[in-house]
Amino acid sequence: MKYKSFKDANKIVKRSTFLVTNPEENKYKWNTFFGNNNPIHLELGTGRGEFIINMALTNPKINFVGIEISEDQLVKAVQKLNNKNIPNLALICADAHDIDKIFGKEISTIYLTFSEPWPKAHNEKNRFTHENYLKLYDKIFKKDKHIIMKTDNKGLFQYSLQTLSQYWYVFDKVSLDLHNDENPVKSNIMTDWERKCVQDKKPIYYLDASFKG
Ligand SMILES: C[S@@+](CC[C@H](N)C(=O)[O-])C[C@H]1O[C@@H](n2cnc3c(N)ncnc32)[C@H](O)[C@@H]1O
Repeated sequence: MKYKSFKDANKIVKRSTFLVTNPEENKYKWNTFFGNNNPIHLELGTGRGEFIINMALTNPKINFVGIEISEDQLVKAVQKLNNKNIPNLALICADAHDIDKIFGKEISTIYLTFSEPWPKAHNEKNRFTHENYLKLYDKIFKKDKHIIMKTDNKGLFQYSLQTLSQYWYVFDKVSLDLHNDENPVKSNIMTDWERKCVQDKKPIYYLDASFKG
């Protein structure tokens, strides 16, 4: 999807101390980069950063990396971070297709929050739960595989339940209506989009899937 262009997005993003400009250089060295041995969690398609920034703030013992392809989106995350000191957060402007060039087997959890649904069949390969992506994740998961997904798109959710189960993931939680679930997810970080869905009484679909290696 093409997002509205933001004047000087490129320059503003590059100036941010949160942006890792040559992320490939940190492959296999992300724990050194963060200066600790805490687990590393990754969000694909970080957008304006609401989710990853708040996750980093509320979970200081976990390192978070957000990958976003669009500078016009990432610039909004960078602006939120102005003058903030969040040592467990890093942002990368890159295509998620390239994550295996950026990470070795270093990642504990992957978040797919409100990912683009790519509803047309000819775009299926772009869905973050397409088999090709699941194979790519195998290259960066440390040991156990762990994916957490939230979406308001039923089609993408149904598709993901199928692809993940065909790939032997086990579901630790599946919710067809996260905000009316009898066992709500503790400390759920909401984005503006999620708040709007809740206001409009649209269900949020949620899954927590893993594969023990
Ligand atoms: C609908 S937004 C969701 C943003 C954020 N996760 C949230 O919940 O607010 C989806 C984001 O994924 C990004 N995206 C789509 N395909 C991507 C890819 N191949 N690599 C990295 N980012 C991608 C888009 O640019 C967009 O910012």
